Amino acid sequence: MDGVVITYSSVYGSSRKYAEKLAERLGIPLSEASCADFHDAGLIVHFGGLYAGSLLGLRSVAGRIPEDASLYIVSVGIADPGEERNARAIDDVVWKHIPDGMRDRVRVFHLRGRLDYPAMTVRHRAMMWMLCRWIMHKESRSHEDQMILDTYGSVVDFMDPGSIEPIASAVEAWRQ
Ligand SMILES: Cc1cc2nc3c(=O)[nH]c(=O)nc-3n(C[C@H](O)[C@H](O)[C@H](O)COP(=O)(O)O)c2cc1C
Repeated sequence: MDGVVITYSSVYGSSRKYAEKLAERLGIPLSEASCADFHDAGLIVHFGGLYAGSLLGLRSVAGRIPEDASLYIVSVGIADPGEERNARAIDDVVWKHIPDGMRDRVRVFHLRGRLDYPAMTVRHRAMMWMLCRWIMHKESRSHEDQMILDTYGSVVDFMDPGSIEPIASAVEAWRQ
């Protein structure tokens, strides 16, 4: 099993766009996670949006990959993973879904996506409003908290196509 499969689970398209970029860059097939066929896959690269403590599609992908296959997980969220606190929080979300016996075959990457309030579902807008209310009542605010408050209601875009390069290099190294 030496095939590579790229999957994504995305609500607003950021994770899908990054997955498409990587698929195009490496000439690898791509599919939405729920329809993916992992039959001959030796490496699965899964891109998923972060939503309040979960990474979309991760549980389903991790539960279906063939024995001995490797899994590269790419989180796409609004928080800056360059801040150690944020990266640690995302890692916690990811690793809790990875069984012990699989951990040495897993790598995790973090990318930044976008928030588009005008395009958001009513439910998601309500969740963001509750998050803002909670931040407003906190005793001290992090840089990230302030960013969420300042940008509430607008479009915030941190998409960076070049940020897939470390993932592309890791896949190329795996293939050799
Ligand atoms: C309701 C809601 C909850 C979110 N929770 C998080 C979060 O916990 N951490 C984070 O970094 N980003 C969070 N985001 C931002 C999304 O991860 C970001 O918009 C991402 O680009 C979405 O990916 P998608 O476009 O592929 O669905 C949240 C967005 C919404 C609307």
